Parts: sequence; C-alpha cells; structure tokens
Amino acid sequence: MQFTVAIDGPAAAGKGTVARAVAEAFGFAHLDTGLLYRAVGARAMMRGRGVIVPEIAVEIAKGLTEKDLAREGLRTARVAQAASKVAALPEVRAALLDFQKAFARREGGAVLDGRDIGTVICPDAEVKLYVTASDEVRAQRRYEELKAKNPETTLERVKIDLHQRDVRDAARDVAPMRAPEDALLLDTSELSIDAAVAEAVALVKKRFDKA
Ligand code: DC
Repeated sequence: MQFTVAIDGPAAAGKGTVARAVAEAFGFAHLDTGLLYRAVGARAMMRGRGVIVPEIAVEIAKGLTEKDLAREGLRTARVAQAASKVAALPEVRAALLDFQKAFARREGGAVLDGRDIGTVICPDAEVKLYVTASDEVRAQRRYEELKAKNPETTLERVKIDLHQRDVRDAARDVAPMRAPEDALLLDTSELSIDAAVAEAVALVKKRFDKA
C-alpha cells in the first residue's frame, strides 16, 4: 500500500508535531525533510569556516547519508539559517530529490514535512496539508524551544530569524515555499497541540478510509 501525506508550511507552525503524530496514528514512516537541509547547511558551514560555498554544499548534499541526519546540533537557529541558504541552491535541491521521492512512495505509507512536498516532491500525494500560524505565535513557540537550550536567545532575535527565513524560502526561484492549490489548510494559531493533531488526523482519516 502506498499512501503519502505531504505537509508543508513555514517554520514553527507545528508541522513537525502534526507530521509525527499523523505518522504514529496510521503507522506510516515519517521524514522531516528540513533535517536534510539542516544537515547539509551545518556541514557546509563547518567546511567553509562559517561561510557557505555553493560548490561545497552541493558536494555534501550529493554524499549525504542517514547518519548525517542523526548528528547533534542541527536544531539551532544558526543551522536553520544555513539550511535556508543551502536550500536556495538548485543543485542542492536536485541532489536530495530522489531520496525524498522514494521515501514518499515507500510501501506502508509515508508522511513528509517541509516546504515543497505537495508542490514538487509529491504532487500526487493522497493528502496535502498546509500548516500555518500567525507570526507572533510561531515566534513565541520557537522562542520557548530555543530558550531551553540557549538562555541568551531573545524573542526579538527569533522573530528576525523566522522572518528572514520565511522571505528567503518563499522568494527563491526553485521550489519556493507555498501552499499547494489542492492543500487543506490548518491554522494552528489558536489551537492546542492536541487539537491541531486531532484535526489533522481526522482530515487524513477521511481520505485514508476512501483509498
Ligand atoms: O523545517 P525546518 O525549519 O527544519 O527547515 C530548515 C530550512 O530548510 C528551511 O528554512 C528551508 C529549508 N527547507 C526547504 O527548503 N525545503 C524543505 N522541504 C524543507 C526545508
């Protein structure tokens, strides 16, 4: 059985939480595609001593392994910025395409979350969700997460980081972040985690029962 749930949306809208919960509820495999770009960005920064050199980023993307996704330190704001930068390079995206497409069509069902899943990676996904939340709510959520690891984080800094990434991710030429036309919209601004998850699971269940 092949069944793909494509979940897109901006950073800190809740798509990761929703994706993990949907995968668990239906017994599907889950891929956080942001981790691919974070892993490439982190290594490219290291090799370029703080600067992203496009050729190096492409080389890293071509040789990326599952082990790279399990490395520590991929969740920092610095790595998120690096991820957003390498994600704008067409050759980096091309190098990561086959792995994601194969994951999406694996036997037993798959949930992928990212920015271009419903538009580029899996335009024929059985379910497409676009998860959003207001800028304020997203910044506050990400601030709470990052503050636990780095007490020097400020809400203002988090707001700027998210805004910079939103603009870069949505404005790039290749696979820009946008809601697929046929996506179901889920605004989590006013929803608790449980309520957002329940709504997403119900939406997927409706399609799954028909498939
Ligand atoms: O989902 P995330 O915040 O971990 O993603 C980090 C960056 O990776 C994001 O700012 C843009 C990029 N990204 C992308 O371009 N396409 C994806 N499918 C997933 C992430």
